[in-house]
Amino acid sequence: DPGLRVAADRAGLRIGTAVDTTALAADAPYREATAHEFNSVTPENVMKWQLVEPVQGTYDWAAADTLVDFARANGQKVRGHTLVWHSQNPSWLTEDAFTPAELRALLRKHIFDEVSHFKGRVYHWDVTNEIFNDDGTWRDTIWLRNLGPGYVADAFRWAHQADPRAKLYLNDYNNEGVNAKSDAYYRLVKELKAQRVPVHGYGVQGHLAVQYGVPGDTLTNLRRFEALGLESALTEVDVRMPLPTDPIKVQAQVSGFNTLLQACLLARRCVSYTLWGFTDRYSWVPSVFSGQGSATPLDENLVRKPAYYALRDTL
Ligand code: XIL
Repeated sequence: DPGLRVAADRAGLRIGTAVDTTALAADAPYREATAHEFNSVTPENVMKWQLVEPVQGTYDWAAADTLVDFARANGQKVRGHTLVWHSQNPSWLTEDAFTPAELRALLRKHIFDEVSHFKGRVYHWDVTNEIFNDDGTWRDTIWLRNLGPGYVADAFRWAHQADPRAKLYLNDYNNEGVNAKSDAYYRLVKELKAQRVPVHGYGVQGHLAVQYGVPGDTLTNLRRFEALGLESALTEVDVRMPLPTDPIKVQAQVSGFNTLLQACLLARRCVSYTLWGFTDRYSWVPSVFSGQGSATPLDENLVRKPAYYALRDTL
């Protein structure tokens, strides 16, 4: 059975999934599907700061290393996720405990140490995650409050110094089409480029919900970032729905997955399309969006849904 991976190889696209490393160790069918269906993987959690440095000064790379080794053994690329975020930071990292200068030094060390640890083994880094609000204003985070908006340029420069070959991405949600948030990214990228900051990629998470519809101008948006010299990637695609499912929602889900894939295939430099989990058995959606689910192309029993076949046929 050919699967998504064979089709993506033919199309010259990286097709990926977020990986739950606990499931990878415990669940053989999940592990086999991860290897069979994808030529790229992203750690769903284990490269986040909270997970790699739970105690200040003590790194734990074990879970992430296991995934990177799995990827190497299976001929897969690794997307690193994520270096600078407002969420899933260690509990010791607070504004009360450190001055702004200390926070800046901590961020710099975090980026240097993590990117160096995976140097040559991680080909993309989501350097920053979710830095803007939907209205295009800066998200109020520990980094913005203490370092100002220049933290973004710093983060990209530090990551580039640590691994000059890695492609460095901005990443966010609700930035598929042309809107206030993607406009903010467009202005930021222009500024970063003018300052010669090493930024290489525009990351579109792609967390869709059938009840909100499918953004129709994703291709137009990707193209304007390409015109600034960036490549792009769909980094966390899933399409949730209010439960229970019905045939209309299932069809809307097909169109959500497909619209984003078509935009990526039609863009000139959209290099990868990653699912945020490929099976409902481990999807993050039900625990975060109450009453919603069925957001991935395979159900709880790894049985293929219409969305799976749609992706495979479009590739
Ligand atoms: C989510 C994971 O899937 C969950 O397991 C975790 O509890 C919280 O984070 N945007 C991102 C991802 O960039 O890192 C998030 O992942 C989903 C939303």
